[in-house]
Amino acid sequence: MITLDLILPDTRYPIHIGHGLLEQVDLLLPHLPIPKAAIVSNETVAPLYLDRLQAALEARGVSCLSVVLPDGEAHKDWRTLNRIFDALLSGNAERKTTLIALGGGVIGDMTGFAAACYQRGAPFIQIPTTLLAQVDSSVGGKTAINHPQGKNMIGAFYQPQAVIADMDLLATLPDRELSAGLAEVIKYGLLGDADFLAWLEANMPALRARDGAALQYAVKRSCEMKAAIVGEDEKENGVRALLNLGHTFGHAIEAGLGYGAWLHGEAVAAGMVLAAAASAQLGWIAPEDVERVRRLVAAAGLPTQAPKMPLEQWLQLMAHDKKVESGTIRFILLRKLGQAVIQPGLDASLLDRVLRANS
Ligand code: NAD
Ligand code: GLY
Repeated sequence: MITLDLILPDTRYPIHIGHGLLEQVDLLLPHLPIPKAAIVSNETVAPLYLDRLQAALEARGVSCLSVVLPDGEAHKDWRTLNRIFDALLSGNAERKTTLIALGGGVIGDMTGFAAACYQRGAPFIQIPTTLLAQVDSSVGGKTAINHPQGKNMIGAFYQPQAVIADMDLLATLPDRELSAGLAEVIKYGLLGDADFLAWLEANMPALRARDGAALQYAVKRSCEMKAAIVGEDEKENGVRALLNLGHTFGHAIEAGLGYGAWLHGEAVAAGMVLAAAASAQLGWIAPEDVERVRRLVAAAGLPTQAPKMPLEQWLQLMAHDKKVESGTIRFILLRKLGQAVIQPGLDASLLDRVLRANS
């Protein structure tokens, strides 16, 4: 097991990455202020892993209640969030009851937001079960639900007490979801580590074949980069915005097509190609660099073309991006491969050209 620490001005927490961690409750127990937990999962993950976690906790004297939500991005909304509150109240959960998110990014984001709100703040722990959640969403304390008009529009910054990434849980993940997670892994290479990008190009077949060592290295390197960036800028006043490479376009795709039509990672993948193409239009990177990005995205089994939408719709959807400042959309683009920058505003005709050529 590898343990990284995310260090913030007011708190710090461990990110454990390894095999066979689900039932190692010694990793959880130090973070429970009282021996009570509420495990939040969904209809797909619960039958696979909930009983094992609950039995391991109960064997150590932790009383558990569980909440099993419907599966999917389309359920990342107020109604489903309220089901968590209903279950917490019906189960007499107290302010010190620890919420445990057992699932992918949807469960992690909703459980974190529920924890931020329940009795004005209950502790929570992330047990991410998708690659995407292990490399990105479980780390850093962004929690949210969607609004029909915009992705992750309602939420809070609220840090977990610990993150426990058990690589063994990825064994049951469908291939399409594994690829979706690889989009966020590629993001780290593109935004800040050209050597990692080259490593990904060389190791993409091993990652898709679920080679344990390759996956663990990818999770570790991704979490190291995320922990460093969040440690510097928890509330996204600066450098954390770079983690949104591909997301301005990606979130527009998700909201525009209806949540769940494209997976988050798929939308981010197409968004990263758009960001690379826009960077080339500005003369920052070469057309061959864009092709390199496109090839890596394709090698990960991800879409390289965005869906077709009129420019007006793109602009309307991107106007709800959380990086908008004084009405200007701030894009994350590539100064070079391995170095992302914040670009306030893009000329509409450049944007139109890029979108037409890549959708
Ligand atoms: P997800 O949570 O919908 O999980 C993907 C699918 O895999 C679901 O059907 C789920 O039930 C299933 N699944 C999960 N674990 C499994 C396992 N071990 N075996 C079999 N099936 C399994 O999607 P995701 O890609 O994990 O997360 C996407 C969400 O994360 C989006 O809502 C996105 O906005 C959010 N996100 C948040 C952050 C953040 O910083 N908070 C960062 C990136 C993404
Ligand atoms: N996934 C983007 C962030 O955590 O800031």
